[in-house]
Amino acid sequence: MTASSLANSQLPRRESIGGRPAWLLRLRSTDVLLCLGANDALLLPYWGRSGGTDRPTDYVLHPQGNRPSHREFLDGQPVAYPVYGDALFKEVCLVVARPDGSRDTRLSFVEDRVENVDGHPVLDLVFQDELVGLRVTHRFQVFVEHDIVVRSATIENRGSELLVLERALTAALPLPPDRYDACTLHGTWGREFTLKRRPLAPGKLVVESRRGSSSHEAHPWFAIRPRDDESEHTGAVWFGSLAWSGNWICSLEVELNDAVHIVAGVQPFDFAWRLTPGESFTTPELAGGYSDEGLGGASRLLQAFEEEVWLPASHRDRPRPILYNSWEATNFAVGADQQIELARRAAAMGTELFVVDDGWFGARDDDFAALGDWTVNAAKFPNGLRQLIDEVHGLGMQFGIWVEPEMVNPNSDLYRAHPDWAYHIDGREPTYGRNQLVLNFARDDVREHLTEQLRRLLSDHGSIEFVKWDHNRAWTEVGWPERPEQQREVWVRHVRGVYAVLATLRREFPEVLWETCAGGGGRADLGMLRWTDQAWTSDNTDAADRLTIQYGFSRAHTPRAMVNWVTDVPNQQTGRIAPLAFRFHVAMQGVLGIGGDINEWSAEEIDEARRLIAQYKQLRPLVQFGRQYWLVPPTPLGPCAVQYVSPAGDRTVVFVYQMRGLRGAGVGRLHLHGLQPGRKYRRDADGVESTGAALMAAGIPAEAVDPRHPTPMLDWYSGFQVWTAI
Ligand code: DGJ
Repeated sequence: MTASSLANSQLPRRESIGGRPAWLLRLRSTDVLLCLGANDALLLPYWGRSGGTDRPTDYVLHPQGNRPSHREFLDGQPVAYPVYGDALFKEVCLVVARPDGSRDTRLSFVEDRVENVDGHPVLDLVFQDELVGLRVTHRFQVFVEHDIVVRSATIENRGSELLVLERALTAALPLPPDRYDACTLHGTWGREFTLKRRPLAPGKLVVESRRGSSSHEAHPWFAIRPRDDESEHTGAVWFGSLAWSGNWICSLEVELNDAVHIVAGVQPFDFAWRLTPGESFTTPELAGGYSDEGLGGASRLLQAFEEEVWLPASHRDRPRPILYNSWEATNFAVGADQQIELARRAAAMGTELFVVDDGWFGARDDDFAALGDWTVNAAKFPNGLRQLIDEVHGLGMQFGIWVEPEMVNPNSDLYRAHPDWAYHIDGREPTYGRNQLVLNFARDDVREHLTEQLRRLLSDHGSIEFVKWDHNRAWTEVGWPERPEQQREVWVRHVRGVYAVLATLRREFPEVLWETCAGGGGRADLGMLRWTDQAWTSDNTDAADRLTIQYGFSRAHTPRAMVNWVTDVPNQQTGRIAPLAFRFHVAMQGVLGIGGDINEWSAEEIDEARRLIAQYKQLRPLVQFGRQYWLVPPTPLGPCAVQYVSPAGDRTVVFVYQMRGLRGAGVGRLHLHGLQPGRKYRRDADGVESTGAALMAAGIPAEAVDPRHPTPMLDWYSGFQVWTAI
């Protein structure tokens, strides 16, 4: 094991347990222990708070899973990557078929390697099966300061015959016998990211997507807590976030000895991958960690990891601009004059980026036509897009545009020219979702064509600084008749193709900011957030519903990537009427956007919006670059409170919301977090002073959060207050 320019204490340490190799990964406050079990199976006996011990054997107290006569069986044992062929009967990560039909694999340890990749230690553990001609390398990328380990596996055909991967998951996370609850994120269109907590019981809980995208219905993230532990700020939490934007699976299984066995990775349903001799397959990455600061602590670890390590480096540290998006205002009926008028008003309010959504291209007057034809609609923009872009730039804003590159309407020039470019099954009538079909992004010619279309769009009309990449239907009839041998690879090849197109365009247009969207938050996962800078969270822009959606999103992702619009009332999705300030205060929790028909807003509304946007600009460093604490998680009627603290802990903002009040009842006291106990803080609005210690221990009365608002808090109350260290 060698690696240069990392402190010795940061390197994964080779240890020995019972004369066999073991590895200790030491993170800021977490230790992870790996070792070899019976038949060289890779075990992960400990992942948790560092126990202040240098003896890894202190961590190996996992009880046997089987009766003594079956001691060699690995059920109940903390296996880090079970394969079909191991002596166990739980979900495996790997199934490899040989030409003779056998699918049994037995991996033996070969070697370990330590590298320094971009300043972070990486431990590779190499295993092989001589009989099958298979090599598997487990990668553990250790983000010491972030308390996160990113895992993946590379599976290589080193033999002389074709191997078919029938299942190739990323990793397993074993947890010791105990009683646990699983937290997962679920929903549907307009109701994404609803946090569900449920007990894990004997059997399996499977969360997954088979829809082509990571989906609205389940999000590739999980957190595990001791049973009934609901506290936001304390308690053990193990978590994982899968960097994959296609079909995925996460199975959480309670074993015979009450140990928990979690596996996650690419969905094995309808998956198979051919590996000819010399070829390899690398799984998507799983970012995992442990916190003993409750769900809040786990979320903050993932958020900091996205902010400081994961999001695209070019824009990672740049404040996200306040955007205006025309979708709810104009739908498909976009036109040059009306967009210019919207842009003027948006600029006057203080927005920084003007985005034209769907409807600007081809013969796009509704959702029946033109997807695939990415040329400007001359009837809607008689002087070209450049006129609007110049106008927007002249107003001091950046310009952004909407695309949906993976889709095609049958009524489009692209489909008429290349009907075979859409997934299809010869002789079978396709299912239309939103009147469109899915283009086969596994095909080189499809990707090349779309890359060229987008390249032209980004270079032909003046400078475009922002692209929203949408994806509006689940995939069906996912056929590729010309390549039957790769038919079951398309689910993966397509997603890799999307990443590749984004990588190419990011390289060629390094200044462009990208937003991932899939009919709302249907593909707002860690995979897309490697190639895009922010995510559209949900098409549901109702401020009350957004509290729940944004809370769920921020369990797994940073507020710096969470885009929220202020739209009109009655809300288009729910009919609810929330005050403008409430809508703003909710949208201020992440990346603020305006999505209403501001041509119709009154002078008073425009004035209030201008004032609120100016306030957001003051708060943006806290919201987008601070640490987030949910003080009171949202409930259907409220109240709800969320706090953001600067990295130095010297400034904080607290937002409070209540949809429906009971006279005299409110949120009670809010105990702040993350402040410096010994420092004095002053409330910006009225100059009241207190110490960090008192603000955290005694808290603040919620109804005084905005001193200009009367108490008691009643319907549609919202406000915020800022405290600054003096
Ligand atoms: C779905 C998105 O979520 C919306 O914001 C909008 O862009 C529409 N698609 C446009 O078709």
